[in-house]
Amino acid sequence: MKGVILAGGTGSRLMPLTKAVNKHLLPVGPYPMIYWSIMKLEEAGIKDILLITQKEYIPQFHKLLENGEELGVSITYQVQPAASGISDALSYAKRFTGRDPFVLLLGDNIFEDSLKPYTERFAQQGKGAKVLLKEVDDPERFGIAEIDEKNKRIKSIIEKPEQPPTSLCVTGIYMYDAEVFSYIDQISPSKRGELEITDVNNLYIEHSELTYDVLKGWWVDAGTHESLCLAGSLAQQAIQKGQEH
Ligand code: DAU
Repeated sequence: MKGVILAGGTGSRLMPLTKAVNKHLLPVGPYPMIYWSIMKLEEAGIKDILLITQKEYIPQFHKLLENGEELGVSITYQVQPAASGISDALSYAKRFTGRDPFVLLLGDNIFEDSLKPYTERFAQQGKGAKVLLKEVDDPERFGIAEIDEKNKRIKSIIEKPEQPPTSLCVTGIYMYDAEVFSYIDQISPSKRGELEITDVNNLYIEHSELTYDVLKGWWVDAGTHESLCLAGSLAQQAIQKGQEH
């Protein structure tokens, strides 16, 4: 299985930290944020990785990571011309992933669980997509899943709901088959002008091909000042316990 990491966007919620520096190069514990996604993929045996970001950031990532060898992976770089949404960024991975299933990580998601059990279950699934959920205190910030508990399926996902039906967040850890690219072609920009990953996931739901698991350990979207601090202290604790992968 291959891996795709998104490391673009504007980082507007982290200004002025992100005025001159890409969000994913900010410190989380002793490492730049982007290390955490790479280490999680490497630990799960996923060594062939595509990193997608805007053109101006490529030299910074290249200086830090080069071809990925130091972290035990092989990194290919891909430009997303403008920060037009997660699904837009993902569309540029089509040539890299080909017909293979793959894992997509949002580079600002920092989490405790190993990816291995989830990627193994997804491989058994054979087709479709899988998302990983986590209970959160601030559901208005995220994509939120409505669950049919009896049949263990997601009924729908609502992006940043004003009145969240549950507090189960769809984290930025996704697994897709190659069908994802035809679903991206079917969606249109949202009110905030972005191609949303939630619209793609809802198309998988319509085709009864979206499964989910719930993360066991901690999970943080490090996209705000407060959550960046929290991610840093949780990551530091994980290192002290010797469980940074
Ligand atoms: O963290 C989980 C949440 O991530 C999900 O619950 C939401 O459904 C999903 O839409 C997303 O919400 P955010 O508002 O937090 O997304 P954000 O704009 O912060 O971008 C997430 C990551 O994707 C971040 O690492 C930057 C990258 N990105 C984003 C955009 C819009 C790109 O590489 N290119 C882009 O155009």
